[in-house]
Amino acid sequence: MRTIQLKLRSASSRIVVGPGIYPELPGLIEDTGLTGPFLVVSQQRILSEIDTRPLRGWPVVTIPDGERAKTLGTVRKLLDQMLELKMTRSSTVIALGGGVVGDVAGFAASLLLRGVAVVQVPTTLLAQVDSSVGGKTGVNHRVGKNLIGTFHQPRLVVADPTLLDTLPEREYRSGLYEVLKYGVIRDATLFSRFESGIDRIRARDAGLLDELVYRSLRIKARVVAADEKEGDLRRILNFGHTLGHAIEAAAGYRRIRHGEAVGYGMIGASRIAVRMGMIESNVGRRIAGAIDAIGPRPDISMLDIATMIESITHDKKVRDGRVHFVLPEKIGSVVMRPDVGRNHVRSTLRELIR
Ligand SMILES: NC(=O)c1ccc[n+]([C@@H]2O[C@H](COP(=O)([O-])OP(=O)(O)OC[C@H]3O[C@@H](n4cnc5c(N)ncnc54)[C@H](O)[C@@H]3O)[C@@H](O)[C@H]2O)c1
Repeated sequence: MRTIQLKLRSASSRIVVGPGIYPELPGLIEDTGLTGPFLVVSQQRILSEIDTRPLRGWPVVTIPDGERAKTLGTVRKLLDQMLELKMTRSSTVIALGGGVVGDVAGFAASLLLRGVAVVQVPTTLLAQVDSSVGGKTGVNHRVGKNLIGTFHQPRLVVADPTLLDTLPEREYRSGLYEVLKYGVIRDATLFSRFESGIDRIRARDAGLLDELVYRSLRIKARVVAADEKEGDLRRILNFGHTLGHAIEAAAGYRRIRHGEAVGYGMIGASRIAVRMGMIESNVGRRIAGAIDAIGPRPDISMLDIATMIESITHDKKVRDGRVHFVLPEKIGSVVMRPDVGRNHVRSTLRELIR
């Protein structure tokens, strides 16, 4: 078991990573100084797949499955249940699930009694390497995704790769794109281990996953520590996301998982970097090769380029009317570029959907 301490101005998070640590949850919570009463927030499906004995009979409430449950309505119901269960300021919410549970439970915890402690126990790969750390919570609005939310740092994050055994294949693969993202933006060793270990990764080898999850979280924690509230540095975590979001939006947030769209987006960003002379074409091919080795992505050939371009110009990363792309300058390092020509974006999208 390895620990990462994330020290921030507003709060601190203790992140523990290791295969087989989930059964030690009560002890880990106690070591963090959290005394309870506790409330577990999860989803029915997760509770039926995962051993619930480490939850010690704590009360459990569930939220519906899926991105469509990430609404203010779900948060309101959750707050009702929390108040009916007479939660106090010393209560702790334990979010057991993927990014949806983490975002919704974290948001409700940040609002209840002006904020109660939250422990994140991520059960998807995406949540283990990304959403459980950094304190972003929130829900969607019909105008767009994640538009309503707070920053509320978890006191403890318990990432156990063996919890991923029951994860559906497509969800698992979606998380692998995010792992590879960390390799490209900050960690050439992680990238190489990913490339050479792809068969073990596909077989969900807990030892290798432990290493990949740990290295990913270490990067996320360092970036968040240096830039808690999403200034420039934290934006490097958005590598692949500008084109990725455009693909998700053009697909109407259906059919394509976020990670799969980021997979396409990373290939696109690498091609733009080649076009701009920032990396050699063999480096671009190496990045694309690692992404392709994860497995097939859904077909996007029916998506409309004009809709994608429209969505890019409305992206959160647009400042002063310029789209800021995160582009690789080598494997292990990226930079923000505000000067990507429209023609490069258009040609790259055309290639991607081919
Ligand atoms: N807060 C952040 O910083 C941040 C970062 C990235 C993404 N997100 C958010 O995360 C969400 C996506 O999260 P996700 O990809 O984890 O999806 P998810 O939470 O919807 O989980 C995917 C599916 O897997 C099931 N599941 C989860 N763990 C399981 C397990 N161990 N075994 C079997 N089934 C399991 C869930 O019930 C669900 O059906 C999005 O809403 C996104 O906006 C947040």
